[in-house]
Amino acid sequence: MDTIKVNFKNGTDRSAVDKGAEILSRGGVVAFPTETVYGLGADALNKDAVKKIFEAKGRPQDNPLIIHVADADLSEYVRSVPSKAQELMDRFWPGPLTIILMKTDLVPLETSAGLDTVGVRMPSNEVARMLIKALGHPIAAPSANISGKPSPTNFERCVEDLDGRVDMIIGDGSSIVGLESTIVDYSVHPPRLLRPGFITYEDLWEVDHEVVYDEAKTRADEKETPKAPGMKYRHYAPEAPLTIISGSKKNVADKIVELMEKNIRDGKHVGILSPIEREKLYNRENVRFISLGSEKNQEELARNLFEGLRSFDDSDVDLILAEGLSEEGVGQAIMNRLKKASGFNIIEV
Ligand code: TXA
Ligand code: MG
Repeated sequence: MDTIKVNFKNGTDRSAVDKGAEILSRGGVVAFPTETVYGLGADALNKDAVKKIFEAKGRPQDNPLIIHVADADLSEYVRSVPSKAQELMDRFWPGPLTIILMKTDLVPLETSAGLDTVGVRMPSNEVARMLIKALGHPIAAPSANISGKPSPTNFERCVEDLDGRVDMIIGDGSSIVGLESTIVDYSVHPPRLLRPGFITYEDLWEVDHEVVYDEAKTRADEKETPKAPGMKYRHYAPEAPLTIISGSKKNVADKIVELMEKNIRDGKHVGILSPIEREKLYNRENVRFISLGSEKNQEELARNLFEGLRSFDDSDVDLILAEGLSEEGVGQAIMNRLKKASGFNIIEV
């Protein structure tokens, strides 16, 4: 398949967005930017179109899609909106928050992967919203990566994964948040935080004290079926095995230096992922150092995480050592993704 590729550099091009909407209305698939990560979209109400998303990504069929709206009136798509869920939408939409609600029959079971619920989000990225408005229907979209890889946060990574597999790829710079949306399930009581994100548990708690979060349920090795089906798959993983070293800053740095030197002696190429503050410490021959930005700036760490993980695949590292980061605030989401990327391979020091 020939993929039309348009990358906005200086402002958006209305005619390219209209072209994307036209493709979507004919049942095609279009990768597009959002503030969290890039999405791979199809008309959420067209079951044949939605099936193509699963094919293009190699996504397991039992993993439901989020629908992206540009209008706060959800009455056609969901049965009811609890008042606290409404308050959260009023406060955080447009933005990186997905709310799960009971769906109406208008949303096909292909979109919800057979569930009677659907996740809904209003993105803040302007191109995303223009595209949804031009289509006139919600856009179903998972992250625009091949299943299992870290989510793409820029045009180039989308092209890498999806060129030749989708009808169109629209680029609009780097995603400013860099982590997928926070997901809260309001189809159950008490409401459950299913996936931490840029909107933190504390942010949610301020609006609704009943929201619960059980991190163990999001663990890859949980025997119980995770509430968000996507949580059970290995995710975000670079090609080389990734180990997280967690503990006090001094112990972590010492341990990484020790493991790094041992592996270099064994003739290995080592990848290191850490805040910029330790760049000099880990700077050796045969080491590929990727900085996440300053540890004083969690938003920067979040924004750089997936691109950092993916950039190890561009080099020939044999293994990756990553510093464990603070789990305060947005750090909870950052570490959630990093732990999954490691397959929960964590050394505590
Ligand atoms: O920020 C985001 O949410 C990005 C951008 C493109 O909007 N999208 C995204 O989609 O991350 P995806 O498909 O990669 O991740 C959605 C997660 C999956 O783990 C899926 O299982 C879960 O949300 N999910 C979707 N609908 C659900 C539902 N009805 N009930 C429970 N979990 C659901
Ligand atoms: Mg994804």
